[in-house]
Amino acid sequence: MLTLQLLALSLAMLPSLASAALFPPDSMVKLLDAKGFKKVMKANQTSIVAFVAPWCGHCQKMVPEYSKAAQSLHPLIPAYAVDCDDNKNKRLCADQHVQGFPTVKVYPRGNQVPAMSYEGERTASAFFKYVSLRVPNHVAKLKPEEINSWIEKDTDKPRALLLTKEKKVPLLWKVLGNKYKGELQLGTVKDEKGKALREIGLKKSKSKESKVVIYPARSTKPVLYEGATKLESLSKYFDSVLDGTADFPVAEEPATDDTESKASEETTASPTDDEQVVLEAKEAAADESTNRPNDEL
Ligand SMILES: *[C@@H]1O[C@H](CO)[C@@H](O)[C@H](O)[C@H]1NC(C)=O
Repeated sequence: MLTLQLLALSLAMLPSLASAALFPPDSMVKLLDAKGFKKVMKANQTSIVAFVAPWCGHCQKMVPEYSKAAQSLHPLIPAYAVDCDDNKNKRLCADQHVQGFPTVKVYPRGNQVPAMSYEGERTASAFFKYVSLRVPNHVAKLKPEEINSWIEKDTDKPRALLLTKEKKVPLLWKVLGNKYKGELQLGTVKDEKGKALREIGLKKSKSKESKVVIYPARSTKPVLYEGATKLESLSKYFDSVLDGTADFPVAEEPATDDTESKASEETTASPTDDEQVVLEAKEAAADESTNRPNDEL
């Protein structure tokens, strides 16, 4: 009887021993194999990767802090782990010059920019600070009086301008600047007392929120973005601007002369009203379902 109980007990424990997973399945830290790693590298985004072995004591000790960092970096910067003890990952770990555990590396822009070995303290705040400072900056930081020449400089690509109360370029904007490098120009301006809004010819508004203004390719007419200022909503919107499916509303006042209606004709391929409603509903849903402080402006 006792033997049977012991047998049952050891059988119950087997799966956890066999996988000896360092990170719980619901962790924000995603496990990568060689194929997943390659995919991450191809995406050109900033990421942090911990190369670990389940038996390593320093790795186990790092898990809560690394998980906490992953949580606060989400969704802007993904955090990954690679189990180098797994035979199918040994080649990947060797290729990444992993010689001890844990080895933590930051990839500022996939495999486009050399990786950096993290040598700092293994605390959530130190991980967070290090990796968020490694996002390559492709965002133009503008003064209100510089906005108009920036808008007119390179009209081949769409431009997205963030009007913010912050002095620094927000992490969200840096991440988007890195993501859309070469496709879409991003700028920020610290808007004091609505000076920047006046500069681009938009009405002063009572709202103290950050504002995102888009200039479609070959246009110098501002379009106020109405969705959530979050990574997912903005990415979807930028993608639709780039593939030509974005709906650009014509200016509030009705077209009065020929030049006005000509300008509106240029913005082709608008989604139907139904699609627009769906889009707005989706954005509203995304807005309500997520409330992550890090993703806010
Ligand atoms: C990554 O960057 C390279 C070089 O700039 C570019 O050719 C490639 O298309 C980019 N990939 C993605 C997914 O943006």
